[in-house]
Amino acid sequence: MLVIAIDGPGAAGKGTLAKRLAAHLGLDYLDSGSLYRAVAWRVIQAGADPADPAAALAEAKRLDPADLGRPDLRTERVARAAAIVAQSPPVRTELTDFQRRFAASPPGGKGAVIDGRDIGTVVCPQAKAKLFVTASAAERARRRTLELQGRGEKAIYAAVLEELEARDRRDMERAVAPLVAAPDAHVLDTTDLGPDAAFTAALEYVTGLSAS
Ligand code: DC
Repeated sequence: MLVIAIDGPGAAGKGTLAKRLAAHLGLDYLDSGSLYRAVAWRVIQAGADPADPAAALAEAKRLDPADLGRPDLRTERVARAAAIVAQSPPVRTELTDFQRRFAASPPGGKGAVIDGRDIGTVVCPQAKAKLFVTASAAERARRRTLELQGRGEKAIYAAVLEELEARDRRDMERAVAPLVAAPDAHVLDTTDLGPDAAFTAALEYVTGLSAS
């Protein structure tokens, strides 16, 4: 099964790139961050504490794939809670199993593009194509501020930057499956690349692999 693993920090352009690659290559797309967000959302809905590992694991076991597209997963409150539930090893194991099942039998049967933090390192270390998409914190904060403002949320650049750097630290310093580029990943820095240029570069890398 063809698996394209795309990892990197928040707001680096992974999601946009992953969706576009999947559509272009006829593969199924899974946003693994939405799994962590959906668990966090369920914990909040249940009135529990995201830092309570038992509550988070119970919700991870009850995860409903229908929750993954909920627009209210995209709020900053859910993002903060998601970074907390993502620190729990049993929650990660549960969600890793979900992702591996998707990679092994994607709905369309042709292959999968999965984006996240640990896809190339932990979830699918055998993936043939691995991209690590990154950009400077300042550029990522600029993009995230525009995205939030575009959705009508009040977003101040300095606060968004601070929150993004705090989340980077939590993702990178986590004991289990920290955010790190796999040694065999192709690093794509999108600080100075627009979405079209990033897509072209990623497609060149992926098609170059199948040619070799
Ligand atoms: O990419 P995102 O902002 O939707 O991710 C939400 C949180 O989930 C973020 O703190 C990182 C975490 N996450 C993770 O730990 N592992 C993944 N494969 C995907 C996301």
